[in-house]
Amino acid sequence: MGSSRLLIFFVLPILLVLAPLAPTIVGHHTRGACTGKADYCWSCVDNGGMQTFNHASNNGGIYRQNLNTLLSSFPSDPKINPIFYSSSLGQAPDTVNAIAVCRGDVAPEDCRTCFKNSVPILLQYCADQKKGIIWAERCTVRYSNISISGVLKDEPVKFVDSPNEISNAEEYKQVRDPLFENLSEKAAAGDSVLKFAAGNASVPVTNETIYATVQCSPDLDKQNCSDCLKESISEIPECCGRKGGGRVLRPSCYLRFESNPFLESLEQIP
Ligand SMILES: *[C@@H]1O[C@H](CO)[C@@H](O)[C@H](O)[C@H]1NC(C)=O
Ligand SMILES: *[C@@H]1O[C@H](CO)[C@@H](O)[C@H](O)[C@H]1NC(C)=O
Ligand SMILES: *[C@@H]1O[C@H](CO)[C@@H](O)[C@H](O)[C@H]1NC(C)=O
Ligand SMILES: *[C@@H]1O[C@H](CO)[C@@H](O)[C@H](O)[C@H]1NC(C)=O
Ligand SMILES: *[C@@H]1O[C@H](CO)[C@@H](O)[C@H](O)[C@H]1NC(C)=O
Repeated sequence: MGSSRLLIFFVLPILLVLAPLAPTIVGHHTRGACTGKADYCWSCVDNGGMQTFNHASNNGGIYRQNLNTLLSSFPSDPKINPIFYSSSLGQAPDTVNAIAVCRGDVAPEDCRTCFKNSVPILLQYCADQKKGIIWAERCTVRYSNISISGVLKDEPVKFVDSPNEISNAEEYKQVRDPLFENLSEKAAAGDSVLKFAAGNASVPVTNETIYATVQCSPDLDKQNCSDCLKESISEIPECCGRKGGGRVLRPSCYLRFESNPFLESLEQIP
């Protein structure tokens, strides 16, 4: 009796402290899952096929070890470019390739924190698979046994919509689409470290402001960045066309709009 009370007093607070590492999962479908407020979304499924290790083979173990080492190494490595990280570790067939990108407005120390918080979740849910991705609000981290740098990857895709409905979807779209097209062009013209753009526009009749941001993995070339974002813009109706906000998340590019500002610091926007 006494010991169970001890358990509640000492174990419960520990569980509560650990809660961010064991997020509640909202959707459990093949396209991935998100935490309650979509602070984190992830997917370990590639092209619809679950690629699971053969646990009996030693290879799975080495791959997993490489994965742990690679993903654990980069958040604190001061030599790395803090907002974009691309690296590989291990000998074939156990080579792990990883890319981590922070949203273009995020400060370096917040970027490292984002990597540090996202990696344990990615490892918790995806470590048994050869490919995985996690989209956090401020960063994206992904890995694969296949070389991913410079390669356009538009699957898996994850849609996140805001709860607020809008009544004037058509007027919204007429402002939102050109805004996204402008921003995409700007982002695609970025350099090999940052392909990011943010902006706002207001819907004439209702005076609502749409705040929008787009970003590509900076290893993509201009054409692939532009193609990735174009595809995402075309999917807004399916994702969140009647909502005042939403995100289209892909491995190679990211698109988000909201009815209120959501970036950290507008000064850092190029
Ligand atoms: C990556 O993993 C998949 C699934 O295990 C395997 O079929 C494929 O050959 C691997 N590719 C490389 C380059 O190791
Ligand atoms: C785009 O990505 C593909 C692979 O995903 C690559 O073969 C191609 O060279 C890239 N560039 C262009 C301009 O398509
Ligand atoms: C798009 O860019 C052009 C030229 O830079 C500008 O004239 C136009 O107002 C922009 N449109 C939106 C919706 O931001
Ligand atoms: C966009 O935001 C900036 C800074 O907050 C503001 O000055 C500008 O008027 C806004 N533009 C539109 C079209 O709402
Ligand atoms: C829209 O916003 C502008 C600037 O904030 C304001 O001057 C104007 O009166 C507003 N129009 C409507 C219809 O609310």
